[in-house]
Amino acid sequence: MKKLNIASIPGDGVGHEVVPSGEQVLKTIADIHGGLAFEFTSFPWSCNYYLEHGSMMPENGLDQLKPFDAIFLGAVGDLNLVPDHISLWGLLIKIRREFEQSINMRPAKLLKGVTSPLANPKDFDLLVVRENSEGEYSSIGGKIHQGEDEVAIQNAVFSRKATERAMRFAFELAGKRRQHVTSATKSNGIVYSMPFWDDVFKEVSTDYPSIQTDSQHIDALAAFFVTQPERFDVIVASNLFGDILTDVGAAIMGSIGIAPAANINVNGKYPSMFEPVHGSAPDIVGKGLANPIGQIWTAKMMLDHFGEIELGAKLLDVIEETTTAGIMTADIGGKHSTEEVTNEIIHRLKSL
Ligand code: NAD
Ligand code: IPM
Ligand code: MN
Repeated sequence: MKKLNIASIPGDGVGHEVVPSGEQVLKTIADIHGGLAFEFTSFPWSCNYYLEHGSMMPENGLDQLKPFDAIFLGAVGDLNLVPDHISLWGLLIKIRREFEQSINMRPAKLLKGVTSPLANPKDFDLLVVRENSEGEYSSIGGKIHQGEDEVAIQNAVFSRKATERAMRFAFELAGKRRQHVTSATKSNGIVYSMPFWDDVFKEVSTDYPSIQTDSQHIDALAAFFVTQPERFDVIVASNLFGDILTDVGAAIMGSIGIAPAANINVNGKYPSMFEPVHGSAPDIVGKGLANPIGQIWTAKMMLDHFGEIELGAKLLDVIEETTTAGIMTADIGGKHSTEEVTNEIIHRLKSL
């Protein structure tokens, strides 16, 4: 019996609505498999936790998480309770960094049964590899002067190690896919980090002669995501560019509510973390409107991570059967609730 211990952090907002969906689906999958079991331990770390304890997680929070096989997270952030930079840096970004989850994998493809907002989309299937530990998300900077002369300075950090790591990861993935990597750059406007990014991309690409490459400025690339998403296979992007690009990727699929993601600890020292692309969706919280597919597809990425490729493929098939049958939440044009969509997926898994 392969038993997987998962730390579950619903976090804030709709995290509490979609994480239980993901957990139930994973438990159902494990029952079908026979030799697999998931045990979930839930942690209440969130903005409400902050109000009670003055921090987003206990001081030894990371020690508590470390022994788990993976972390399954919903979303973090409730602006009514805690400023975002405090809640996110105190939990989500803290885990990504301290657990060296330096790669964020975010696929986007047309799901059967889901209408893309693109008028006549060709079949696309792309994967953004987002550098997840540094870049534009740096804590180096500050403010100088006051009053009308006040200036905020925010530095970006691009280390050779992290840049190269993200790029090699992208090339390795492309080798198992359609043999193409696109680099998201902006070396026409950003004079230190992006020319460096381009140099490292060129260097790394020489180690993968069979993989085709191209480089696109991030602004044009974002537009191509809308006009020709089918031309992309793997895209490697810095932290901020990857963040923005993957919301565009989610949008062209039909909704941010269906987009999955995986924060991967490449060196195997710490657990990886699985959390969808979307946030806590304060505008729909408590209404049964949250699409559980982002979290459930994220669960599929967790199955893949544990080597359960066939089960992962089955789960994605069942998600698509469900959307094809019209059992969907309102964000993708349906009229069903979070619970109804989840139950349908579970029901279909059980009858496999
Ligand atoms: P958001 O993703 O929460 O919401 C953007 C829009 O998408 C909203 O209209 C929302 O209703 C919709 N949406 C999101 N998830 C959905 C789902 N599952 N089903 C249907 N519709 C869904 O982004 P935001 O409004 O910019 O952020 C809200 C809060 O979440 C902020 O505090 C932000 O910092 C945080 N956030 C957290 C994460 C994370 O924890 N990974 C990611 C993004 C934003
Ligand atoms: C994401 C989110 C986070 C990010 C925020 C909430 C800090 O947008 O996971 O995409 O920018 O990484
Ligand atoms: Mn984002």
